[in-house]
Amino acid sequence: MRGIILYGSCYGTTQKYARQFARETGLPCFPCKQADEARDADTLVYFGGLYAGGVLGLSKTIRSLPNAANMRLLIVTVGLADPQDPVNVQNIRTALQRQLPKDVFSRAQIFHLRGGIDYSRLSRGHKAMMALLYHHDKRLPPEKQSAESRAIVETYNSKVDFFDTEALGTIRRALETV
Ligand SMILES: Cc1cc2nc3c(=O)[nH]c(=O)nc-3n(C[C@H](O)[C@H](O)[C@H](O)COP(=O)(O)O)c2cc1C
Repeated sequence: MRGIILYGSCYGTTQKYARQFARETGLPCFPCKQADEARDADTLVYFGGLYAGGVLGLSKTIRSLPNAANMRLLIVTVGLADPQDPVNVQNIRTALQRQLPKDVFSRAQIFHLRGGIDYSRLSRGHKAMMALLYHHDKRLPPEKQSAESRAIVETYNSKVDFFDTEALGTIRRALETV
């Protein structure tokens, strides 16, 4: 296997997962801006932070790789909302389906990890976006709340870290299974 890890991370949690996975598997690991490194790979493990439902850097990375159509692709999303929640997982997958060419999406193995957030480190734009979401979500009646809206309300303006190396085991086992 000529495997490689690429990641799209804004504040470092996804990078931390990707680097830990690289230590556990021995695969080389690069930020998605260095997607060129994956040109000769036959297996790509892409770790991407979730931003407004999209996986950071994924579409651009796939478009830039001429060998994407022939690669084995494992996609790992990293978000604040609980990935044990089936509706959250369904929403992430629906968004992924829109981000990727049909054949790439249908072949990809998809995994979900929980990241974290530290409001003191957010850019102005991201702070403003989260404030809008918070003021909207905190008024939602219980039947309209989602894992995402609950995560935003519960963690607003604070620092939380759900980083969990154990969660990488499932992805490692999937990678080892041909
Ligand atoms: C502007 C903004 C939008 C976000 N959108 C989502 C989202 O749609 N779903 C989710 O689960 N988490 C969302 N998050 C939380 C991030 O996915 C989470 O902080 C993740 O750990 C970020 O990874 P990074 O540190 O590698 O950038 C958002 C965070 C910010 C700041």
